[in-house]
Amino acid sequence: MDEFTYRDGSLWCEGVPLTSVADRYGTPTYVYSASTLIDHYRRFAKAFDSISPLVCFSAKALSNIHLLRLLGREGAGIDAVSGGELHRAMVAGIDPERTVLAGVGKSSDELREAVRRNIRCINVESEAEVELLSRIAREEGVRPRLAIRVNPDVAPDQRTPARTTTGTRGGKFGVDIERAAALFERAAADEALRIEGFHIHLGSPIFDPQVYAVAMDRLLALVARLEAVGHRITTLNLGGGFPAEYIDRTAPSWDDFAEVIVHRLTGFTRQGGQVIFEPGRTIAANAGILLSTVRYLKQAGDQQLAVIDAGMTHIARAAMYDSYHFMWPVQPPAEAIPSSRDVSGLDGLTTYDVVGPICESSDYLARGRSLPVLKAGAHFAIFTAGAYGMTMTSNYNSQLRPAEVLVHGDQVSLIRRRETYADLVGLELLDDGSDQGD
Ligand code: LLP
Repeated sequence: MDEFTYRDGSLWCEGVPLTSVADRYGTPTYVYSASTLIDHYRRFAKAFDSISPLVCFSAKALSNIHLLRLLGREGAGIDAVSGGELHRAMVAGIDPERTVLAGVGKSSDELREAVRRNIRCINVESEAEVELLSRIAREEGVRPRLAIRVNPDVAPDQRTPARTTTGTRGGKFGVDIERAAALFERAAADEALRIEGFHIHLGSPIFDPQVYAVAMDRLLALVARLEAVGHRITTLNLGGGFPAEYIDRTAPSWDDFAEVIVHRLTGFTRQGGQVIFEPGRTIAANAGILLSTVRYLKQAGDQQLAVIDAGMTHIARAAMYDSYHFMWPVQPPAEAIPSSRDVSGLDGLTTYDVVGPICESSDYLARGRSLPVLKAGAHFAIFTAGAYGMTMTSNYNSQLRPAEVLVHGDQVSLIRRRETYADLVGLELLDDGSDQGD
């Protein structure tokens, strides 16, 4: 699952005790395990290797260029969703041939950039976007490859939050499946474009492999209809959505997903079709933690509160989606060393609300959480924070974004320094360095 383990009474990442990271870099700090990230990428790719997919890591989950570069060296491509992420992919040295661009509201500049770089595939989401892309393609004299993002109208089960469900009718993403064939034909008739296939992304996270099965059957029926009238479909992008382990062994394995997906696509790949995946969470979530420090303990009514130095600006998921993150002291009392992330069997725990320093009533990281007795000043880890952690941080309340640290074996490197007050106001200073305040 990951390489954050308790040893000698304290939490380690690979060969490095996290107390030493906190002492050296301060908190809150995101700490990533390179071995976990690489291992997850390799094992995901291996589960599907019989259909030789292009695995484009979804940069929206984790976008630090050092980590994108690490994945790139393993053969990963990048799923970008903005010009900013395309830029990150380029800086990280990702081949445009392994880069795809998605997004419901791409600007013409973002599309133009993707056309100029001739990336592997632009996933378009509307008729109007196809028109715009065609115009840009003519202006640039490049024939871009594109796929149509289809909304297959498939609902995941209730374990996927409504706010991260993307493939049901009426949602903002993609083109209704019954309109997709007509749009494909429109794009196929346009010699400025190279329409290659379809893209789906159903939501995140999706725990039931059958959700993919239902969506794929709808997609493959659409492919068959188009092939029956002479079109050739060469790219099918199944998006991301594969889960991570927020507790312990609660998610199906990659092999469980492969079992449902692979046999549906062997015919397609045998005829030379290219399958693309865009996993983010399943690769990155367990590869990172947010290392924080308890600032205060206080009583509020009947509740015990632990006020820590990481809030919704440093990790937004709990406040935004009521998401569950396992959290535990870095140096718990001897009787409370967890052997797994299911701590329901441990005795002597106290119930806390864990809150951050932000001036918002929603700034709770956990409510009614059983934890060992906490001490002010003690380091505290929020687990499974590698995906949608740092990428969703903000400067609200003029909080500084955390540092990011990468651990590989016993090596520690700072891969993003903590922001400073100068960073906070830097963009508000004008070119001559003045603030025009006088
Ligand atoms: N492809 C597309 C088109 C997507 O929209 C997404 C995620 C992915 C791939 C990657 O999905 P993954 O493999 O990571 O599940 N902020 C939310 C998650 C939002 C996901 C948005 N799209 C959270 O923290 O749970």
